[in-house]
Amino acid sequence: MTKKKSLKDAYSLKTPEDSINLYKTWASTYDDDFAQQNDYRSPIEIAKYFEKYSNDENTPILDVGAGTGLIGECLNLDSKEIDAIDISPEMLKIATTKNCYSKIIEADLSKGLSINDNHYGAIVSAGTFTYGHVGPNVLDELIRVTRPGGLFVFTVHSKLFNKAGFDKKLLEIKKSISEPIFHKVDAYGNNPDIDHGSDQVIITVFRKR
Ligand SMILES: C[S@@+](CC[C@H](N)C(=O)[O-])C[C@H]1O[C@@H](n2cnc3c(N)ncnc32)[C@H](O)[C@@H]1O
Repeated sequence: MTKKKSLKDAYSLKTPEDSINLYKTWASTYDDDFAQQNDYRSPIEIAKYFEKYSNDENTPILDVGAGTGLIGECLNLDSKEIDAIDISPEMLKIATTKNCYSKIIEADLSKGLSINDNHYGAIVSAGTFTYGHVGPNVLDELIRVTRPGGLFVFTVHSKLFNKAGFDKKLLEIKKSISEPIFHKVDAYGNNPDIDHGSDQVIITVFRKR
């Protein structure tokens, strides 16, 4: 029997290949044994803040590190289109079953993306800018593929915000973005994990100039 995956497994990843391997075996149970059991709140919070800050122009949307598509499920999109991008084909296969994504893109975010400049009207992301996953430099490529005026709403693990250099990155790109707005929220409603159950994320919001 495969051992149940934990945040410790996810946070100790080192390379994109490690992500592929972990999520390959986690994909089929992720929604139940991780999201539902721990009342994982980040995708709901992202949907809430996207609704607060977005306008009719913020489409199409790119869900970055979309995983099994929890943000797509939480967003109430009548007139907007959303695409999913992730490195794990197994996670994306589950996302496809949610029937909310227009396009599924399998790609490594740490490399250049085969997406035209100024294509997206919004970027959303939950649980991807975290330990062992994706760092602040990915923002350069995401800004490139986003239109001027495009909205960014994404979580960054609170303990990693300064440690991984998100603070410095936002200063470095400040001419390309509006003044960021931050909301600190709990990542889980009910997670018994002693080390990470009370983790918080910083929802970071800005627009590309
Ligand atoms: C914790 S999951 C979050 C999934 C989903 N957004 C959610 O909130 O449930 C992190 C996701 O990031 C993806 N990921 C990790 N490294 C990546 C990379 N270099 N490029 C693209 N996706 C990556 C993983 O495959 C995984 O699906």
